[in-house]
Amino acid sequence: MSSSDSKTTAPKIGVYPGSFDPIHNGHVDIIERCFPIFDEVVVAVLRNTSKEALFSIDERVEILREVLADRPRCRVESFSGLLVDFMSEIGARTIVRGLRAVSDFESEFQMALMNRRLDPRVETVFLTPKEEYSYLSSRLIKEVSRLGGDLAGLVPQAVLERMPQRTPKPKPTA
Ligand SMILES: Nc1ncnc2c1ncn2[C@@H]1O[C@H](COP(=O)(O)OP(=O)(O)OP(=O)(O)O)[C@@H](O)[C@H]1O
Ligand SMILES: [Mg+2]
Repeated sequence: MSSSDSKTTAPKIGVYPGSFDPIHNGHVDIIERCFPIFDEVVVAVLRNTSKEALFSIDERVEILREVLADRPRCRVESFSGLLVDFMSEIGARTIVRGLRAVSDFESEFQMALMNRRLDPRVETVFLTPKEEYSYLSSRLIKEVSRLGGDLAGLVPQAVLERMPQRTPKPKPTA
């Protein structure tokens, strides 16, 4: 077998990294779009993030696994340190990121170039969600939940069930 043959037969792994605190339907939409493109999809939860967390890493992994349980070509992992090092460990070369709007572009562009600089074998691909999910972010989900808004249709059931216990309703102002 020539080296080009082995290249074409190696499973194509797409790595979708993020903090997923919590996963919402914009994330789910991007993950679904990965299946026709990759043989295997690895959802990778970032451990070293400066963002203030609502769910612990273990809880996020548990929720993601529950949401993606019926997807045999998908697994959920967490990682710390550099994404490119994690990718090298699992034999992956492709990063998947979601692009919601122009506002995402600049930071995503910088990150893609930095990751390429750190490991030139790594390529980043960008996928866009269904328009109806393009305004969603975990930050906004947490904010709406905290203010008592309805999240039905915006997050998977596994998140919906856990959110109210985590975020007390705001006290009424006098
Ligand atoms: N609604 C969405 N549609 C498409 N891609 C999205 C959406 N929300 C997030 N993503 C993408 O998912 C990846 C992981 O992002 P991240 O975990 O930061 O989610 P987030 O919703 O942006 O959370 P936060 O508000 O905490 O930043 C990024 O590539 C991000 O652009
Ligand atoms: Mg984000």
